[in-house]
Amino acid sequence: MFQRLKALFGRTPKPASEEALSADKIPQHIAVIMDGNGRWAKSRGLPRMAGHHSGMKTVKRITMAADRLGVKYLTLYAFSTENWKRPKAEVEFLMKLPQEFLAIELKELIEKNVQVRMMGYKGDLPDHTLRAVEEAIKQTANNTGLVLNFALNYGSRKEMIEAVRLIGEEVQAGRLLPGDINDTHMEGSLLTAGIPNPDLLIRTSGELRISNFMLWQLAYSELWFTDVYWPEFTEEHFYEAVREYQRRVRRYGGV
Ligand code: IPE
Ligand code: IPE
Ligand code: MG
Repeated sequence: MFQRLKALFGRTPKPASEEALSADKIPQHIAVIMDGNGRWAKSRGLPRMAGHHSGMKTVKRITMAADRLGVKYLTLYAFSTENWKRPKAEVEFLMKLPQEFLAIELKELIEKNVQVRMMGYKGDLPDHTLRAVEEAIKQTANNTGLVLNFALNYGSRKEMIEAVRLIGEEVQAGRLLPGDINDTHMEGSLLTAGIPNPDLLIRTSGELRISNFMLWQLAYSELWFTDVYWPEFTEEHFYEAVREYQRRVRRYGGV
């Protein structure tokens, strides 16, 4: 609570729309499907890569906005297990972005007490990508502020298959009876183990789908979609999503 109040009132001037948010109903975990980089670039007659590059600035912008609001977890979908289907040059470009982003921003993330994490399958990532991410994770491991969780080579179906496999191994070893398997076993076996489920999911670019993102975890998340492409997504759009979230009534199947 103190952190939230500090975040809302303790720092340099805030845009009026940020002040209008109520401090006691800030989502604890916001997940974002950062989409529309390619279309943004195309609409300006630029190559897709220019869109990805510009999207990095939005990552910075929204990370800082989430931090100021007192959000505890920000999960950003950066690369899916299906994105390997893209042309080789685009994949290679995307795989260079983490190190470029961190080379510029890691210092400030450390200063802001942000903890960097990664959720996804590390094995398929190029060495240079993995090294940069692991270095950031290591350098921020003891930070206690916003958790900035990059979904990188993440896919929810793979995640669930792996979870089922882990649970199956427990059963096979005689440590768990099939009839005793419950939500807790599943949650503890997903890549989000220990992280609360997202309160709010944001997807940019006008697509109204989930694209294999956090299928289990989003069961009761509030969903918010915008036509805005990720490179042009601003703090104002972000606050608008949070404001809308604050108006929603979450019933979880109750009345
Ligand atoms: C999101 O933008 C970034 C990634 C999926 C890596 P896109 O590259 O999907 O942009 P569009 O959807 O083609 O416009
Ligand atoms: C989802 O966007 C993946 C990321 C944002 C990283 P895509 O652009 O890959 O999704 P589809 O293909 O439109 O469903
Ligand atoms: Mg897309």
